[in-house]
Amino acid sequence: MHIGSHLLANNLFAAPMAGVTDRPFRQLCRRLGAGYAVSEMVTSRRELWGSLKTSRRVNHEGEAGPIAVQIAGTDAPMMAEAAAYNVERGAQIIDINMGCPAKKVCNKWAGSALMQDEALAVAIARAVVEACAAHGVPVTLKMRTGWCRSHKNAVTLARAFEDVGIRMLTVHGRTREQGYGGHAEYDTIAAVKAAVSIPVVANGDITSPEKAREVLACTGADAIMIGRAAQGRPWIFREVAHFLATGTHLAPPLVAEVKRLLLDHLQDHYLLYGQYTGVRSARKHIGWYVKGLPDAAGFRIRMNSIEDCAGQWDAVAAFFDELAGAADRIPAATAAELDNEQEAAGTQ
Ligand SMILES: Cc1cc2nc3c(=O)[nH]c(=O)nc-3n(C[C@H](O)[C@H](O)[C@H](O)COP(=O)(O)O)c2cc1C
Repeated sequence: MHIGSHLLANNLFAAPMAGVTDRPFRQLCRRLGAGYAVSEMVTSRRELWGSLKTSRRVNHEGEAGPIAVQIAGTDAPMMAEAAAYNVERGAQIIDINMGCPAKKVCNKWAGSALMQDEALAVAIARAVVEACAAHGVPVTLKMRTGWCRSHKNAVTLARAFEDVGIRMLTVHGRTREQGYGGHAEYDTIAAVKAAVSIPVVANGDITSPEKAREVLACTGADAIMIGRAAQGRPWIFREVAHFLATGTHLAPPLVAEVKRLLLDHLQDHYLLYGQYTGVRSARKHIGWYVKGLPDAAGFRIRMNSIEDCAGQWDAVAAFFDELAGAADRIPAATAAELDNEQEAAGTQ
């Protein structure tokens, strides 16, 4: 599969998740089988570009290409400027965010709220495409199925976005009104796929290899995108890839492998964020990795009181050493457990 001239390793994508899919996590997902990973969104507000948060988000050191940066905002010229800013900093693909349920930019609703104002949504897409054309950078866009149940306009918008030069569309199978509630539906994604000739990516509630196969089949989508199910379980991409290729399941990972992955992930995380922020922001990742494992709740309480990277790293190593004494492999989660976790993880 291609985006513009970029050939992707496969059609299994890691979803952009603000506060989660930073560079270390994206690199890990790519190592474990994701063919493509989009960065957390970068605001179009110029005054925030110098902030530590944005500078970490635009840091792509050592990241394998294609480097895809998502931008969010409500003003077409500002979005065009944000695209150019990110291209100058190494973005090879620009993705426009029309998928977040609640993001205020300049006191206006950005993200999926833009789907309510079709003229503005298309003007933004056109301006960003024009800004990127000079650099040969393709522009993609992520949206929901529509504003609310009675106003699902993803198909109309998809056609308009294709007309102004958007090169790939990702559709999360929920309306903006739904937030993360209810279930994703795939009929609208199938309708978008049938309406356009650019690649379409299906997203929402894909928690297992079986679900991945089902969503690819029922939507006809070119690729699938996984978000929350990869939190603490980045090896889901290789599990899906194996299942799609062979129809059989990979064994769950060895405890020793997960220990190594997590400790490496923590090292990269501390390097990007430094001790104070690093130790705190790592807690949620550690919590996701240990979820469902014996003594996870007690461990999380103990771990949350540790305030230095070395102490946190040692505690994680000791937790997995103890687990390795009792089991070779991480227990496989049931489909019901995965779906429950998914609902709990939809926090944005
Ligand atoms: C914590 C969190 C942060 C998110 N941040 C973004 C974001 O920055 N941009 C975006 O387009 N979508 C964002 N999303 C939405 C996801 O990309 C994805 O569309 C959604 O979670 C549904 O997919 P899933 O069921 O596989 O998680 C976020 C979701 C979560 C849970």
